[in-house]
Amino acid sequence: MRIVLLGAPGAGKGTQCKNIVTRHDLLHLSSGDILRQERAEGTELGKQAQSYMDSGGLVPDEIIIGMMVKAIEKAPASGFVLDGFPRTVNQAAELDKALAATGLKIDAVLNLEIDDELVASRMTGRRSCPKCGAVYHVENLKPKTEGVCDHDGTELVQRPDDSLEVVAHRLETYHQQTEPLVDYYKSNGTVYDFDAGQDVDEVKASIFEKLETLGNACSADAVSNQEA
Ligand code: AP5
Repeated sequence: MRIVLLGAPGAGKGTQCKNIVTRHDLLHLSSGDILRQERAEGTELGKQAQSYMDSGGLVPDEIIIGMMVKAIEKAPASGFVLDGFPRTVNQAAELDKALAATGLKIDAVLNLEIDDELVASRMTGRRSCPKCGAVYHVENLKPKTEGVCDHDGTELVQRPDDSLEVVAHRLETYHQQTEPLVDYYKSNGTVYDFDAGQDVDEVKASIFEKLETLGNACSADAVSNQEA
């Protein structure tokens, strides 16, 4: 399956992607994580992206599209989940073109809906592991030992773009440039909405239920295509 996760900053895209890929053996491709990795390695791409990320704006399409298409080309046949990409209608159209060139398409778009008021507390309380990328929250999703990653014992950090001021700009950017993608994908009938204001496990259960149904439909299609 090839899945896109849409949602405002803090809707829980990264958190839910980790659950989905573990259960369905898919590759998690987070544009934000790839950009942060480029920055950590000091690459030219990372340097170009830095000021846009720190201010809460979008990195230009010319940089992002090539970077993500390259990452998608390396995905296994089982499929992938895109987290944070596409983020503009132009990015979505270019993604569709790149997939169509190899006879592929996006099978499902999962849209995590959340109120702006909830986003601020989620972002300022988020802590992540700089080594393995695991995401925690100081109240909602605590690590076993405060400030330390459960998986590798690394000290957790706060993302520089999670300050209230930058989060406000990220939300504005989301509403202006990314929200129109919901209509873009709805015109293809592939969007499934989820209430991302619920607990992590409740959101996870709703997503798993939907993916189960979609997975069964895909298997039935594959069988009837083989029989035809
Ligand atoms: P990116 O890293 O993609 O950030 P984002 O989209 O703003 O999303 P986040 O990672 O902040 O939030 P999330 O939805 O993954 O939430 P999470 O699961 O962590 O992008 C960063 C920057 O890179 C952008 O601003 C831009 O500059 C650039 N960029 C990236 N992609 C780009 C593109 N395609 N084009 C141009 N520029 C691009 O959860 C948040 C917190 O809430 C966590 O602490 C978590 O534990 C907690 N939480 C999650 N779910 C729940 C729940 N159900 N209940 C309670 N707490 C919860």
